[in-house]
Amino acid sequence: MPAKEAAAKFDPSRAAEYERQSRIALAGYDACHDLGACILAAALGQGAAAKILVAGAGGTGNEIIAGGQLEPNWHFVAVDPAQPMLDLAVSRIREAGLESRTEAVLGYVHDLPETESFDAATLIGVLHHLPGEEAKLEMLDSISARLKKGAPLILAGNHHAYSSKPLLLSAWAERWRMTGSTPDEVKAKQGKILQGADPPHSEAHVAQLLSLTGFGAPERFFSSLFWGAWVAFRL
Ligand SMILES: C[S@@+](CC[C@H](N)C(=O)[O-])C[C@H]1O[C@@H](n2cnc3c(N)ncnc32)[C@H](O)[C@@H]1O
Repeated sequence: MPAKEAAAKFDPSRAAEYERQSRIALAGYDACHDLGACILAAALGQGAAAKILVAGAGGTGNEIIAGGQLEPNWHFVAVDPAQPMLDLAVSRIREAGLESRTEAVLGYVHDLPETESFDAATLIGVLHHLPGEEAKLEMLDSISARLKKGAPLILAGNHHAYSSKPLLLSAWAERWRMTGSTPDEVKAKQGKILQGADPPHSEAHVAQLLSLTGFGAPERFFSSLFWGAWVAFRL
């Protein structure tokens, strides 16, 4: 099952290096999460109480830390099928003092009851790991089914087939060199990204996936090489 393959990649060794490597692979990692929280606060209203679904929450816990520190009345359901990634996020969330406002769920969004309805959701860094159209639509559908009408979704991840943008791919490799990787390590990173992911092939494709799963037109608020971040509202 494609969704299971995507989760299996996030094993203990990848989790151990995730916090450092995610910030190299995505220049502006923290800015993207901070701005995602700002967009949600702007959409939901300052000080409003909200229940937020954080899909693919494993790793740094940054969606929850940025959002929880900005807004005292937000509560989070953090869903991730990879135990080592979820454990890491939970430990960071605990250190930030946000554990009492976070429920961690080991599993998939479709495991949550459909009766549960959220005021907002985030899906950051997940969609391009899901191979094929069907798995991407299933992921977005499962979020859409659990959002209130008018609720914002922060969607962020790589788009464009990597091989279609050779200059961006080389610049991405230069970023690894800039942060101390050896030529062999850079080559291995490039090989991994070319084989290991299946990003939507354009911004129009991202918009189409959202439209097919019940969302309005996305508005982009951040971009960094292959990466884009958008907000879209549940229709
Ligand atoms: C690149 S990490 C991004 C984590 C975090 N959102 C961030 O911004 O750093 C991708 C995460 O998605 C999770 N994942 C993979 N397949 C998933 C699925 N079908 N549903 C939810 N999460 C999934 C992985 O286990 C991993 O923790």
